[in-house]
Amino acid sequence: MEKDIIIKELSEKINNVKSIQELNDVKVEYTGKKGIITELQNGIKDAVDKKEYGMTLNEIKNAFNDAFNKKQEELNNLEINKKLESEKIDITLPATELPVGAPSILEKVIEDFEDVFMSMGYDVVDGPELEEDRFNFELLGLPKGHPARDAQDTFYVKGDELLMRSHTSPVQARTMLAKGGKEPVRIICPGKAYRRDDDDATHSHQFTQIEGLIVDKDIKLSDLKGTVTVICKRLFGEDTVTRFRPSYYQFTEPSVEMDISCFNCKGKGCNICKNTGWITIGGAGVVHYDVLKGCGYDPSIWSGFAFGFGAERCAMLKYGISDIRTFYNVDLREVKSFDRKDSE
Ligand code: DAH
Repeated sequence: MEKDIIIKELSEKINNVKSIQELNDVKVEYTGKKGIITELQNGIKDAVDKKEYGMTLNEIKNAFNDAFNKKQEELNNLEINKKLESEKIDITLPATELPVGAPSILEKVIEDFEDVFMSMGYDVVDGPELEEDRFNFELLGLPKGHPARDAQDTFYVKGDELLMRSHTSPVQARTMLAKGGKEPVRIICPGKAYRRDDDDATHSHQFTQIEGLIVDKDIKLSDLKGTVTVICKRLFGEDTVTRFRPSYYQFTEPSVEMDISCFNCKGKGCNICKNTGWITIGGAGVVHYDVLKGCGYDPSIWSGFAFGFGAERCAMLKYGISDIRTFYNVDLREVKSFDRKDSE
């Protein structure tokens, strides 16, 4: 047996392989059923000096195994390096920016209102934006020809009976009528309202109000003050002070204007509160006798209070937004700066 020749040959063959597949072919060539080493193994029975033969055979086998293992490792490493090379991640590259949405700031303010009112037992209800004159005006103490209608001029659809609601207050009348004058009412209704206005930084022909109504027995102005005070503290901070100024609405008597102490300057005076220390956030009052009666509630048994907050106004003040059109322009560059404001 030409041991040295065989070892030289197998070493060369193994050294020259370029892939695991080729390496396995060589393995079959040597150790397969008809392989060179297998044949040599079979030849032991005819050997004259079996011991000598066995030792030489072992040398060949070892040489094969050593060369095979070395090559296998080498090829495996090559494979891994190739993979690493192709999957290389450059961690110094700037990350790809993923467009992540955020709640609209106006929507968020409305949801905050809803959360606080719901925790006080109020239901959130809806009403139509295309409204009947009867609900928008008449049942609220504004008969046709009433001068106060001028301040709430809106978009009329088909004659003068159907209009885009000029406030969310018609939901008060709708809710009371639906309850049939028999059950207490405790609702808020956030929603869109419309007015014939020239749009500018503080006026929009479409805007959002958060209407509220409670009807029950023995409801007084002090209940309104208490409720609004708690709500404002929860929404604008515990140190918020509320103030009520006499006002006039046709559907409440007495009527008030609701102010809160400026959360920016805490009442000292700044540009947000126009140096007054106070910010007006809506109107309210004790539900008018005629409104209760017109909507099926006996005013000698029932009483209530109502309010309307300006949602954009609250959002603008809370987040320092100076132009109401920001909410409606759908310009991401403008809106983005208010995204996730509260988590900063
Ligand atoms: N609807 C009024 C407006 O648009 C706001 C308002 C004032 C609503 C007093 C009320 C209220 O419910 O009681 O100016």
